[in-house]
Amino acid sequence: MVSGKTIDIAPSILSADFFRLGQEIEAVERGGANILHVDVMDGHFVPNITIGFPVLKSIAQATQLPIDAHLMISEAGRYAEQFVRAGATMVSVHVEAEPHLHRTLMSIKGAGALAGVALNPATPLGHLEEALPFVDYVLVMSVNPGFGGQQFIPTAIDKLRRLRRIIDERRLNVRIEIDGGIDLENIGAVVAAGAEIIVAGSAIFGASDPELALRELRDATVQWV
Ligand code: DX5
Ligand code: ZN
Repeated sequence: MVSGKTIDIAPSILSADFFRLGQEIEAVERGGANILHVDVMDGHFVPNITIGFPVLKSIAQATQLPIDAHLMISEAGRYAEQFVRAGATMVSVHVEAEPHLHRTLMSIKGAGALAGVALNPATPLGHLEEALPFVDYVLVMSVNPGFGGQQFIPTAIDKLRRLRRIIDERRLNVRIEIDGGIDLENIGAVVAAGAEIIVAGSAIFGASDPELALRELRDATVQWV
């Protein structure tokens, strides 16, 4: 049982209908979304290309929700600050794509946003060891980054538990985000394992009623908080 943790649901707009993006965002706002997760892909670090500054800027002007920019791009340090200026309030960079992690995290914080580090499913937690004191949140990927609608990789559960233990033992103020394949079946398990920010794309925007889908996901976490 996890106690005293706030669980935030962060719909990923990657699975939204971009033609109706404004209405899609309004639906998840009504459903009680806490954060809007925006996946930025460059066709280099991951084999897909999504959206960048102009779209993020328009979204930020249209919603009150905090915007979580998940940068799946090479040389994230070159662009991270610009995402904050475009309106992101949380920015995560992949440890696999950023050799100058400390500098980049500092630049995100310096620009006024929360700084996160994202880990691919096969990247060991050990890669985080020296960076943890400088991060506000860790994004644990439970699919290989690049696409929505993939299947949850179950080894993420044990990774969450181990990360939770490390953060608690070191008494760090670091939140844990989980991203990839989250649905009604596994959301309880990831929350029980220590995740606090729950990203869900297809489970929300792939549903016929995204507002309802979001409420149902939250209800499924209640027994764990
Ligand atoms: C995948 C992205 C995810 C994705 C999640 O690379 O980082 O945020 O949108 O989508 P689902 O919930 O469908 O796996
Ligand atoms: Zn993401």
